Amino acid sequence: MIKRYVFGDPVETESVLWKPEAADWQDDRLFCRDNAFYGDLSGEEIVYGLGQNVRGINKRGWLYESYCTDDPRHTEEKHTLYGAHNFLVLDGAGVLGIFVDTPGNVVYDIGYTDSRKLSIAPQSADFELYLIEGESPDAVVEVFRRLIGRSYIPPRWAFGYGQSRWGYDSMNQVREVAAGYRDNHIPLDMIFLDIDYMERYKDFTVDKERFPDFRGLVAEMKEQDIRLVPIIDGGVKKEDGYDIYEEGKEKGYFCKDEEGEDFLLGVWPGRCCLPDMLQEEAGRWFGSKYKILLDMGIEGFWNDMNEPAVFYSEKGLAEAFEKIDAFRTQNLDIQSFFEFQGLAAGLSNSPQDYASFYHEYRGERYRHDRVHNLFGYYMTRRAAEAFEELEPEKRILLFSRASCIGMHRFGGIWQGDNHSWWSHLLLNIKMMPSLNMCGFLYTGADIGGFGGDVTEDLLIRWLSFGVFTPLMRNHSAAGTRRQEVYRFGTAELMRDVISVRYKLLPYLYSEYMKAALGGTMLFRPLGFAYRKDGIAGQVEDQLLVGESIMIAPVHEQNAAGRTVYFPEPMKLLRFHGGNVLEEAVYPKGHAYIGMPLGDVCVFLRENHILPLSRGGECVGDVDFAHLERYVWGTDVKPYAYYRDDGETKEFDLEKHVEMLTV
Ligand code: NOJ
Repeated sequence: MIKRYVFGDPVETESVLWKPEAADWQDDRLFCRDNAFYGDLSGEEIVYGLGQNVRGINKRGWLYESYCTDDPRHTEEKHTLYGAHNFLVLDGAGVLGIFVDTPGNVVYDIGYTDSRKLSIAPQSADFELYLIEGESPDAVVEVFRRLIGRSYIPPRWAFGYGQSRWGYDSMNQVREVAAGYRDNHIPLDMIFLDIDYMERYKDFTVDKERFPDFRGLVAEMKEQDIRLVPIIDGGVKKEDGYDIYEEGKEKGYFCKDEEGEDFLLGVWPGRCCLPDMLQEEAGRWFGSKYKILLDMGIEGFWNDMNEPAVFYSEKGLAEAFEKIDAFRTQNLDIQSFFEFQGLAAGLSNSPQDYASFYHEYRGERYRHDRVHNLFGYYMTRRAAEAFEELEPEKRILLFSRASCIGMHRFGGIWQGDNHSWWSHLLLNIKMMPSLNMCGFLYTGADIGGFGGDVTEDLLIRWLSFGVFTPLMRNHSAAGTRRQEVYRFGTAELMRDVISVRYKLLPYLYSEYMKAALGGTMLFRPLGFAYRKDGIAGQVEDQLLVGESIMIAPVHEQNAAGRTVYFPEPMKLLRFHGGNVLEEAVYPKGHAYIGMPLGDVCVFLRENHILPLSRGGECVGDVDFAHLERYVWGTDVKPYAYYRDDGETKEFDLEKHVEMLTV
């Protein structure tokens, strides 16, 4: 059962695809006062959701916000990350799904001020609220997913392993990475190009000196079954003579400030303008520019800095300099010194800047902060719409850093600038089901961690989890330890781990497609499946992946294994040194499982089938037709195996599903 309530005069976000008739406010669970909602949380109640955010699968005990934010330190004390995903599910005496449809900030106090209370406070008085009742979290999620529409489906090659790094700044560097993988027979399908391929960080340009034959390089890589995937940034460099800037300026496509002048902000290239991604014509214009790279043979993109990230605004910078100048002659005491120090630090992503420029959206003018969460969504949507026109038959890879619900129909997301920290591997694990609930299926974090120096064991453990995430990409920041796996003494172990991905691919792709087409989740918390099991609901570091398996990744340094909770009997399948070892069936309860570095363990559910391929060095090598079947139990259910060409858009559950039996 779904109810829709309208408060004030909401901005249409296009997050939702169909709208039930609006009802008058009346609800037993939530109390509404001054456009905020209050409810009680019972002792056992679990609160799932909020997509990309900090902390656990169970969101109880913290204060969260939904405001797309470029913040590279995803620590526990933060309240929001790059995405704004306003959907949660309360699983207590009944099950209730809540979706706040608004493009501005929303504050969620989930048992923070008072552990037994919940409050939801949208920043604006104009929003829509959806309440969904159902028998189980799965049922509520399915209804919600029908409401928001089908999740994005990438080409099948995008389920391969990818290598990325901020700093691949020449054709030879790219070739070196490709050779590092191919020569060592480590599977690889993608190399990502960060801002270094551009000419002075200008969107839709290629540096002619460092990449003199870009088109040739793309073709050369494709011959080796490797796709190059370039980055596109949200800001356009302000530079006379740069065609994109000149055209955007002339046509009035950039966001304007109070005085009607182009809003100027600093990002990688220095001074930039922001294309008004929300305004249809401007957004379409920006989207059409991806053709420049498509024409060079590119088949996938990642959209970055689109919260939008504002290092500084021209005005903010001028004011800061003025104040700094005034400090010059002062005796800096404790207060003035901190003020002085904060002047530069406070320049980035400041609320004042977000309140100082405007969008034209659906024929009206909006101050940016009111519609902030739509920027990354529309940047990505405009690109996807352009691909639909330019390449109607073909799937193009597209994922974004910033997002809100609605964008899940047009692209995936990666989880932003994490660190080479064990806690961020755990955060990656916990975030997957929350994102899936909100429709984001094609997602993954920077494997090995973006900031900081990775250690070998962290990389191996992260890869061992990453083999399950649809986006499986190793990415790291400039200035950190090199993270390509062939550079490590344990490269062979890492190769074994990455190879597991290619064995699992038929299953993972099949489960992904069923989740996308059926509106279900690929990663589910145990509490979703074992509803009456009080322990299952508390498990935060094990997940069900599709219908047949459970995983329990190691996420602590120097651990040679871990305790696993079995909510039902399961059989251990161990991927070890290129082989699959069938080990014991564990009964319901806890057991310690040894998991040395390099082993990937999956736990097979009774009477379920896990189909595996023989693997390959790229997705193109994988034989999706001839599969081995792993199974145990006396009453085995046939496995609904989805297989299509992986390239066109002829998705169809009925046409492409074949029932596998033992
Ligand atoms: C920020 C992105 O999150 C990161 O992945 C990228 O490497 C840098 N921008 C540089 O483009």
